[in-house]
Amino acid sequence: MNDYNRREFIRTSLPGFLGLTMALPAITALATRANACQGRPAPGGTINWDAFLEAVAKEAAKQHLDHWNETDYLQCAAALAHTLNLQDPALAAAFEHTKTGLGNERIDFYDLEKRRDFQINLLQFEQGERLRHHDHPGMTGVLLCTTGRLQTDNYDLLERRESGSFLLRQSASEILEKGTVSTLTSHERNIHRVEALDLCQVIDIFAPPYDPQRSAKSTFFNVDPEPFKGKQGLFEATLA
Ligand SMILES: [Fe+2]
Repeated sequence: MNDYNRREFIRTSLPGFLGLTMALPAITALATRANACQGRPAPGGTINWDAFLEAVAKEAAKQHLDHWNETDYLQCAAALAHTLNLQDPALAAAFEHTKTGLGNERIDFYDLEKRRDFQINLLQFEQGERLRHHDHPGMTGVLLCTTGRLQTDNYDLLERRESGSFLLRQSASEILEKGTVSTLTSHERNIHRVEALDLCQVIDIFAPPYDPQRSAKSTFFNVDPEPFKGKQGLFEATLA
């Protein structure tokens, strides 16, 4: 095994020095990745798309462990989303592509990444476009608003009633603006509805990703706008 001392390091050859110089961006990226999940990028700094994907992949892979904590994962994923450089060329091309969907009177979905443990989509809503109440079976989600404002209302499923209806408890209601996130676990806030108050673009991070089974289990609901038996925050829902 070679044993390098300080003198030999200082006397690194010109090709060696050039090689080190070329490697510095990669080393910096690795350092960024190492820090990203603790939410400690350089002050005011951002992480690029590739580093973001690597960090999300690392965290999402933990879902296969017995002790995976969805809440901890979501905190980490949300912190990563907050530091993502939205000007990254890989994302800029996707945002540019959304212009093709303007005026088509439907929500536009663009795939950004899909891996075994997670998927990331870019969604574009024009003002007034909405997604009705729906769930995300067995999944976690992070919704990052990148443009405009999005009304989001989340619910927990409390009970499947003998009548076949469902009892929901509203667990969150907020307006997302650029740079803010909404999260859901497999059991908390898992049902939501969203409506664009302006032209709005959001990045959705799901772990695990949709597969044929999860897609088949996905449910859309009709939710009674009146509180269930007059109880504030409780609503009865039926299958849409
Ligand atoms: Fe959703």
